[in-house]
Amino acid sequence: MPGEEIIRLIVDHIAPRKQAKKISVGVLATGNGSNLQALIDFSKRAECSFEICSVISNNPESRALTRANGEGIPNYLVDHRRYGSKQEFEAKLVTYLANDGVELVVLAGFLRVLSQVFLRQFTNRVINLHPSLLPKHPGLNAIETALIADDAESGCTVHLVDQGLDTGPIIEQRSCAIISGDELETLTMRIRKLEHDLLPSVVNRIAKMVATRDFA
Ligand code: GRF
Repeated sequence: MPGEEIIRLIVDHIAPRKQAKKISVGVLATGNGSNLQALIDFSKRAECSFEICSVISNNPESRALTRANGEGIPNYLVDHRRYGSKQEFEAKLVTYLANDGVELVVLAGFLRVLSQVFLRQFTNRVINLHPSLLPKHPGLNAIETALIADDAESGCTVHLVDQGLDTGPIIEQRSCAIISGDELETLTMRIRKLEHDLLPSVVNRIAKMVATRDFA
């Protein structure tokens, strides 16, 4: 399915609205949260049709929480280690996201695999960012793996989340060359730059299509 069709599928699962309003996005992140920051920065632009209304991290050290806090965005620590089961952990995620009225869930460096139980609460409304040209190099350490494989190019992917690990239908990708002498740090920086452009752009494409559907 080409990206445009996946976006249409996502939009079809976002409830119609009666008044002009930006779509409400919830972001799940584990680490530095630079992609959350890119979404926050984009959300301040005039052309932006989404707002970040909820941020959750499973990691007490995550900068995603401090970034959200600094912006006055509701944010929550849901540390998976404090829950007896995956189900309880995910139930807490769902509670916060639902309370904040989240319509689209964005996994921006969220290092937990979500089960069907979670995904069923947000059917076709969860997207993920991954630092490789999927289907190449799913899972952890994707950038390192591309270097070890001696690939000529790398990049990033935004895809719809299904029950597999980075297997859902691809919405959009950005690519870059792997340059001779590249190390993990240099290639990571190049890919991050692409990610910071790609992720807000995809979320805004979804948001704009919702606005067009409801208010064209
Ligand atoms: C990104 O490379 C993303 O593709 C991957 O985790 C990283 C998160 O980076 N899933 P940051 O926390 O947004 O800086």
